[in-house]
Amino acid sequence: MNLLFRVIVTLLLILSAVSKGLAEDKAYVGSLSCRECHEQEYNRFVKYSKKASSYKSIQKMETKLTQQEFTSCFECHTTGYGEKGGFVSVARTPELKDAGCEVCHGPGSLHVETEDPDEIIGRVDQESCQACHSSDRIEVFDFKPLLFGGAH
Ligand code: HEC
Ligand code: HEC
Ligand code: HEC
Ligand code: HEC
Repeated sequence: MNLLFRVIVTLLLILSAVSKGLAEDKAYVGSLSCRECHEQEYNRFVKYSKKASSYKSIQKMETKLTQQEFTSCFECHTTGYGEKGGFVSVARTPELKDAGCEVCHGPGSLHVETEDPDEIIGRVDQESCQACHSSDRIEVFDFKPLLFGGAH
């Protein structure tokens, strides 16, 4: 009896470790998944932010570009391209084709499930913009976004 009990406890421990390990792999879910709980941010974002239609911007130029050049646009004009659980292609991950909420707030799968504010980036800093609004772009476009620009 005692042995059986220990076996069960061990199995439960392994199971919880495995599920925790899986849970730590956050994936991108797309802006639409945020709407039901953050309707105001969602509506403003879709209405005012160019990010919400950033795939359209590159699509317009697609025919003038090689496939490789076109793919290079994904890094900034889509959500999570090249990262685990991020944009792959319009056919496979249509919900991630634009640069959405998660380019600033990070992958949201766990947060959407748990509603836990600790599972999402709440304090967005200026540095996180630089991955896409890089210094050479800022010079070329003569445009450096303020922290709250282009959000909601
Ligand atoms: C099922 C409901 C639900 C969904 C879906 C949801 N959230 Fe939340 N979110 C919450 C709740 C609840 C809080 C905590 C609110 C509070 O503390 O006032 C929160 C807080 C936040 C915060 C603030 C975190 C902080 O540190 O203060 C951010 C940012 C956020 N959510 C972004 C998102 C994004 C981006 C998505 C979509 C990927 C999303 N949420 C989807 C329920 C949700
Ligand atoms: C994943 C890449 C990415 C990140 C990270 C990012 N942006 Fe952007 N942002 C873009 C792209 C792409 C556009 C242009 C969209 C278009 O016009 O197609 C854009 C456009 C903008 C604009 C133009 C005006 C508008 O209303 O859309 C502002 C302002 C802006 N971003 C602010 C920010 C700020 C502030 C941060 C950091 C908190 C940030 N962005 C982070 C990719 C990014
Ligand atoms: C390093 C990040 C990055 C890459 C890579 C990138 N873009 Fe952008 N793009 C941006 C940002 C950020 C903006 C917003 C303007 C700005 O501040 O630079 C933008 C704006 C644009 C706009 C202007 C939209 C408007 O409203 O006028 C077009 C068009 C565009 N990009 C097309 C492309 C194409 C096509 C590619 C691939 C060949 C590409 N971009 C690659 C970051 C990027
Ligand atoms: C360009 C970057 C950017 C994008 C895109 C973005 N946010 Fe935010 N978000 C911010 C910033 C900056 C704050 C303020 C954080 C702080 O106070 O430090 C914020 C704060 C929040 C908060 C906390 C409450 C509040 O309004 O201050 C929620 C919830 C939130 N965002 C949800 C969303 C949702 C949902 C989307 C997509 C529909 C989204 N965000 C897209 C930058 C962004």
